[in-house]
Amino acid sequence: MNYDILKIFSSVAQNYDIMNDVMSLGFHTVWKRFFLNICPFEPNMTVMDFGTGTGDLIGLIDTLFPYLDMSLVGFDVCDEMVSIAKKRYPHHQFLSTWTQAKESVDGVIASFSLRNCHSLEDDLKAIFDVLKPGGFLAVLEFFKMPHHQSYEWIRTLSHLFKQEFEYDYLVHSIQNFLSFDEFAKIVPCRLHHHQELWPSFVQMAIFDKIF
Ligand SMILES: C[S@@+](CC[C@H](N)C(=O)[O-])C[C@H]1O[C@@H](n2cnc3c(N)ncnc32)[C@H](O)[C@@H]1O
Repeated sequence: MNYDILKIFSSVAQNYDIMNDVMSLGFHTVWKRFFLNICPFEPNMTVMDFGTGTGDLIGLIDTLFPYLDMSLVGFDVCDEMVSIAKKRYPHHQFLSTWTQAKESVDGVIASFSLRNCHSLEDDLKAIFDVLKPGGFLAVLEFFKMPHHQSYEWIRTLSHLFKQEFEYDYLVHSIQNFLSFDEFAKIVPCRLHHHQELWPSFVQMAIFDKIF
């Protein structure tokens, strides 16, 4: 089945955060906290959140690292997501068109977004271009596992929310994404750190732009 990603994310935008809480039993915030704590943030950096959704990662950075005084930019192709993020965090910048100048950001963070990209290699190239030399790409993602995983719990919960189509897409996107090793091969940056969380298909990594 072909999924219209923009249509899916537009339709879930208003309920996205609550559904994330319920479907992950609150774990997504725990994973995101672990993730942000391994990101090599430094004071006054410019950091882009790629596929920012409702901007919750940017809100968490505000909470966890207010003393770093970073410039945070959220980017997402979905206008509905961006308008929620703008309302929620009016002191940060949110964009739905790619206007970031070449070599203008110190770090890009991408949480559960790269799996949804229509042209992953083109998006990774665009991310690489906006990173300054020495910058980092930090990724938190559901990666395909070599052994069978059951996602019946996602389907069961999606029935409760009457969002079967959207969450069929979630299962489809995990099953059809890359394994971490396959992903690391197409990232045009050097792998610096890789870690599995719980459950093990939730993984995070830091890549460095070294040239
Ligand atoms: C699963 S949500 C993740 C949102 C947020 N980062 C989080 O961790 O909760 C995926 C987001 O990626 C966005 N997205 C999909 N393809 C994208 C692309 N090519 N460029 C930027 N954002 C994209 C979607 O619109 C959606 O808001």
